[in-house]
Amino acid sequence: MNAPRARILGLGIHVPSQVVTNHDLTKMMDTSHEWIVERSGIEQRHWVGPEDGNFTMGLKAARMALADAGCDAAEIDCIIYATLSPDYYFPGCGVLIQRELGIGHVPAFDIRQQCAGFVYGLQMADSFIRAGQYRKILLIGSEVHSRLLDKSTRGRTVSVLFGDGAGAAVIGVSDDPARGILSSCMHSDGSDAECLAMQWPGVAAGREGFITHQDIDEARIFPNMEGQKVFKTAVKCMPEAVQEVLEKQGLAVSDLDMLIPHQANLRISEMVAKLLRLDASKVHNNIQKYGNTTAATIPLCLSEARALGKVKPGDLVCTVAFGSGFTWGAVLMRW
Ligand code: ACO
Repeated sequence: MNAPRARILGLGIHVPSQVVTNHDLTKMMDTSHEWIVERSGIEQRHWVGPEDGNFTMGLKAARMALADAGCDAAEIDCIIYATLSPDYYFPGCGVLIQRELGIGHVPAFDIRQQCAGFVYGLQMADSFIRAGQYRKILLIGSEVHSRLLDKSTRGRTVSVLFGDGAGAAVIGVSDDPARGILSSCMHSDGSDAECLAMQWPGVAAGREGFITHQDIDEARIFPNMEGQKVFKTAVKCMPEAVQEVLEKQGLAVSDLDMLIPHQANLRISEMVAKLLRLDASKVHNNIQKYGNTTAATIPLCLSEARALGKVKPGDLVCTVAFGSGFTWGAVLMRW
């Protein structure tokens, strides 16, 4: 008997109501709307207010995804939570979702693949479903960047790029074997692990403690990024991953109806499309409104593309992501 095919049965999103424009950032640091738009395409992002944290946004997105799938929370038999900005160092956010949804003692995984987290999670969910291990999986990607960033001029290269938000998907057995996840790939290369990283607080060799006064005084406690290295590696790995998942199905770029790339930088998305020779009309971007929301960008972008009628039943859709680690991957779906 053939393995069941997994399909995204429902999507949900949540973005905090507070909009922070590039002009707002100029009041906090030495930057300009023109610089940010020219280098990244970003015009605004959303930041959480005091009422929200990571899992509260993830929960709102999850409830919307459950409603969209017509699925009762009690049917969920596994939770996968992708984030780099969890509410607590431990435990992870997955168990907080389990508690709030009041569902049974299902497994809850938190995964740490940063911008590639949602794509990794989709592939994990697909594998579990095809193996017959679980039947309905709740996958969440959620980030609160605004509480991690250095919002002074010192941190401007990184902090202008990121925003807060959450997205979720219910993944289950497809009732139509022609529709659902067709192929996927996941990769990593740790040789540049510190190129895009937040190394403090932490317990690495040589540290005196998880966090020290010196770490704070010397402002080590923020993410660091070698932007040009990230850019060059992303535009190499993302097209390769798209080609890989298409080739696994004997398909070509020309067969694609829509590409949903991770929203790191509009220039990265444009370069990926150009290298794939994919027309801009077949790529959906929304980084202009949200900035880089890391594990949340794929569901935020996919959900918006669907709402705009750019992703329709029967379409061949590919999601591709690249992020810190480096980690990257792609998922090809017949929607
Ligand atoms: N506002 C104004 N000026 C700035 C800002 C800012 N926010 N940030 C940096 N600058 C200045 C720098 O100080 C520098 O000034 P100098 O020439 O006087 O020294 C100048 O702008 C150029 O700085 P660079 O860092 O060289 O700028 P670059 O052209 O590389 O653009 C950027 C930076 C946008 C980060 C780019 O490297 C990039 O897009 N990299 C990809 C990284 C990315 O997208 N990361 C997202 C997370 S990773 C992921 O999701 C895959």
